[in-house]
Amino acid sequence: MRMYDIIMKKRNGGELTKEEIRFFIEGYTKGDIPDYQVSALMMAIYFQKMTERETYELTMAMADSGERLDLSAIHGIKVDKHSTGGVGDKTSLALTPMVAACGIPVAKMSGRGLGHTGGTIDKLESFPGFSTALTTEQFIENVNIIGIAIMGQTADLAPADKKLYALRDVTATVDNMSLIASSIMSKKLAAGADAIVLDVKTGSGAFMKNEQDAKALAEEMVKIGKNAGRKTIAVISDMDQPLGYAVGNALEVEEAIETLKGKGPEDFVELCLTLGSRMLLAGGKTDTAEEAVEMLKRVIEDGSALKKLAEFVKTQGGDETLVYHPELLPKASVQKEVLSPREGYISRIICDEVGICSLILGGGRETKESEIDLSVGLVLQKKVGDYVKAGEILAVIHANDEDKAKEAERRLLAAYTIGDEKPEKQPFIKAIVQ
Ligand code: URA
Repeated sequence: MRMYDIIMKKRNGGELTKEEIRFFIEGYTKGDIPDYQVSALMMAIYFQKMTERETYELTMAMADSGERLDLSAIHGIKVDKHSTGGVGDKTSLALTPMVAACGIPVAKMSGRGLGHTGGTIDKLESFPGFSTALTTEQFIENVNIIGIAIMGQTADLAPADKKLYALRDVTATVDNMSLIASSIMSKKLAAGADAIVLDVKTGSGAFMKNEQDAKALAEEMVKIGKNAGRKTIAVISDMDQPLGYAVGNALEVEEAIETLKGKGPEDFVELCLTLGSRMLLAGGKTDTAEEAVEMLKRVIEDGSALKKLAEFVKTQGGDETLVYHPELLPKASVQKEVLSPREGYISRIICDEVGICSLILGGGRETKESEIDLSVGLVLQKKVGDYVKAGEILAVIHANDEDKAKEAERRLLAAYTIGDEKPEKQPFIKAIVQ
């Protein structure tokens, strides 16, 4: 078999066989097939697309490219959750302790971020001492003892995806449905959970800019999960403006803590309850979504979800007192208020621009080697549909550099559209695919 023939077949619109897919994935993982040939194939896939069968075979080949975690030593049904990514997405920070407090074991692999803000691991490092460098044995033990553990992705988990994703990132081939679906699902399948709940975002801050594409991606991933024998559910939610109000690492941790105290932003709470209820259903905790939502609300009201977060932070080496004293989280030196230039209704916030503001302030990574500033970011005060007076605060920028704060202010003002008409409220949860 030759890589050249595989590229040509796909370039001409052919359907690759399981053997051809395995040949290029195995060859690329071992280093036998060079980046330039795989780049050409990725671009051919980008334009010619993949069939459902090809996407499934690609997922399985990538899942088999390294070790597969065996979580059978964890008691109960293990439920994993994955987001396709967005701005202000602090969901795992609040959702995982909520679900664990309801008695469903959460064994989660998370990543660091490349882009707007950090990933879940970066955010959790706002707790001094916190570490996700667990061995598989510690990971399993923590889940069995306290019901929750989050581990950094090991180098050997779906290594083909790791290489391929980095290559796609620099060759403009990320936003293809089959490539995204296989990338996410290969990692989830290799990570060993029994059930997978997917948080698929749509809008200006998401890979899938429109709802139709988000739905197609969700359906593709649900089919892959089912074919691989895992219960898989996808929730499609709005990412046309940031999730909640906070964007930035420690700022998002603080918002997640407030949410666990019952004071969370409306959209974020709705997302946690929707995803959480599907996780409880998948984990066999109850038979109805309504009952699951009640259970999740109860663990917030009685404080057990917050306590679970503190227990989790402490078990992984972090200072849990910050859960009860979030004012001690990393703080930026400059707080700059961004004022509205006019009166009216917020009709639009270009979501990825808000993410870029956080990146400019130092809250995200431009390259894999970049250091993240955990303290910086933005806290929006006004979101779509809100009324604002001229001179009223739209957002507060948290910065450690005056020039960066000014640049973020300029971009943030350009990201807001303020009009005379109150925009119609759009549903936040768009659909559930199962
Ligand atoms: N997240 C992933 O893990 N992979 C993609 O391809 C896109 C988003």
